[in-house]
Amino acid sequence: MSQKSIQKAQWLETISDPVLFATNVLGTQLWQREIEILRSIQIHTRTAIKACHGVGKTFTLALAALWWLVRWADGIVLTTAPTFRQVGTQLWAEIHRAAARSKIQFPDFNQTSMKLRGGNNFALGLATNRAENFQGYHGGHILILADEAPGIESGIWSAIDGGWSASRSDGGQSDNSKRRFLRRFQ
Ligand SMILES: Nc1ncnc2c1ncn2[C@@H]1O[C@H](COP(=O)(O)OP(=O)(O)OP(=O)(O)O)[C@@H](O)[C@H]1O
Ligand SMILES: [Mg+2]
Repeated sequence: MSQKSIQKAQWLETISDPVLFATNVLGTQLWQREIEILRSIQIHTRTAIKACHGVGKTFTLALAALWWLVRWADGIVLTTAPTFRQVGTQLWAEIHRAAARSKIQFPDFNQTSMKLRGGNNFALGLATNRAENFQGYHGGHILILADEAPGIESGIWSAIDGGWSASRSDGGQSDNSKRRFLRRFQ
């Protein structure tokens, strides 16, 4: 195996694993709870995090957003929070900090949006004042990150649910399992 193919194999292994990616590429030292969150996002279609203040929830969602964009060439990350101000000042502030520490160069990006490889590979901060904001994202690998989820209005969850149904990463989960998940925040 040539040096180049070894490097390529290592890179593919790193980007297939959010913990390796956060550690080796984003230069983060993860806490145990954060590793658990990233593993869950890697393995499961849906992850709900119930934890006390300051354990690193928002921080970890930022790492997950960057990982997803790099992991999938058609990866789309939609991020939200109860207010658009929170989207910018909390989650996206962490995304900016994580990208600045990264060993790979991310393209310059705006306060609440980032394009990686072009039109089908981007992350976007969305306000929750209009359910339509969550519609119209089809295909590809879609990751939806809702920070401070219990504060998000219930009507938004059905729009998010529509996004899931359109996504290949939905994994064909049953309606019952989706409903059980959504009830955690309603
Ligand atoms: N692994 C880490 N390495 C360095 N800093 C970290 C790490 N994890 C979290 N932090 C920092 O710790 C602080 C708290 O993390 P964060 O805001 O993500 O917690 P949270 O669980 O979202 O809190 P809250 O419940 O208040 O929203 C932030 O300043 C964040 O940047
Ligand atoms: Mg937080």
